[in-house]
Amino acid sequence: MRKKTQMIHGGISRDEHTGAVSIPVHHASTFKQDGVGNFVYEYARTGNPTRHALEELIKDLEGGYRGFAFGSGMAAISSVMHLFSTGDHVIFTDDVYGGSYRLVTKVLTKYNVGVTFVDTSGLAAVEEAIQENTKAIYVETPTNPLLKITDLAGISKLAKSKNLLMIVDNTFSTPYWQNPIDLGADIVLHSATKYIGGHSDVVAGLVVVNSEQLAADMHFVQNSIGAVLGPQDSWLLIRGVRTLAIRMEEIEENAKRIAEFLVSHPQVSNVYYPGFKDHKGHDIHLRQAQGFGGMISFDAGSGEKAEKVLKKVKYFTLAESLGAVESLISLPAKMTHASIPRDRRLKLGITDGLIRISVGLEDAEDLIEDLQSAL
Ligand SMILES: Cc1ncc(COP(=O)(O)O)c(C=O)c1O
Repeated sequence: MRKKTQMIHGGISRDEHTGAVSIPVHHASTFKQDGVGNFVYEYARTGNPTRHALEELIKDLEGGYRGFAFGSGMAAISSVMHLFSTGDHVIFTDDVYGGSYRLVTKVLTKYNVGVTFVDTSGLAAVEEAIQENTKAIYVETPTNPLLKITDLAGISKLAKSKNLLMIVDNTFSTPYWQNPIDLGADIVLHSATKYIGGHSDVVAGLVVVNSEQLAADMHFVQNSIGAVLGPQDSWLLIRGVRTLAIRMEEIEENAKRIAEFLVSHPQVSNVYYPGFKDHKGHDIHLRQAQGFGGMISFDAGSGEKAEKVLKKVKYFTLAESLGAVESLISLPAKMTHASIPRDRRLKLGITDGLIRISVGLEDAEDLIEDLQSAL
């Protein structure tokens, strides 16, 4: 089954009992047993039919062994981190999403799980960071907000040679453009709040693992911590996936045109967009993904100038988040990445004037005119 068909027919695409082509939303929190221990579903935290349909769908889309749905991207990431124990060490891409940075530096460290942040676009630096107690390499590619590219096959080779788990946050690329498990990843996760939901109306996280053992471990964590996704939100995500392919294709076209406009604008410097031939890692991204996505970052010169642009735009909505039908604009330094200390932010290249846009489905001409007049 090809990708576009999989979005419609993957997972459990219809209700066996009624033939309904839309999976029913099962609100039941518990299920009747035909004798003690004789059941299909037991209790909705452990398993729910609507959530299960979504989990089967994301498993198919990522080409993994089993999928899991959580109440947010952070709930998904936290649950994955519960696979580790006191004394373990994990290597992270240096410019991970600010919330992931906060989780690992402020929460994981309380449990004595050691973390090292590395520019994973350089394999030698990753290898150097491996310690005796390292258990995993956690990668974001392209990164948020600088769109840095990591060589997934290269990391996988390294991880396998050292017996480490490889975890990939695939939020920016979506399973339509990039499938890290095919390139050797053990665990793929998403903030499904973004492109997979796609309409700014659901907060959710998804995880796909590639083995029976990881599936058992992950299900134990999901059931024990209980940060599960509700049935209504699971249904919304299934519906979102139905149009994911077509949304990503259209967003791609819009993003290319907007990136080209930005690069030619005199008030703008450092346009970060993986589709540019001179973007660092462009060739690697081309090898491992089928599209460049809808995220673009650019420098407006200063925090003051950037804030003026953010105030003036009328079609770009000033808001956190990304991956929606409507175009969004944000200032990472004061919004998504505010939890990263300023000196660390600047070192990474997340300047005070860096603007991040998430290109939506409006007419590209309107979006370009909007940015032109705001700039
Ligand atoms: C790349 C990435 N991963 C994870 C998250 C966290 O997801 P959520 O906001 O759904 O908890 C985000 C949120 O912006 C993100 O951009």
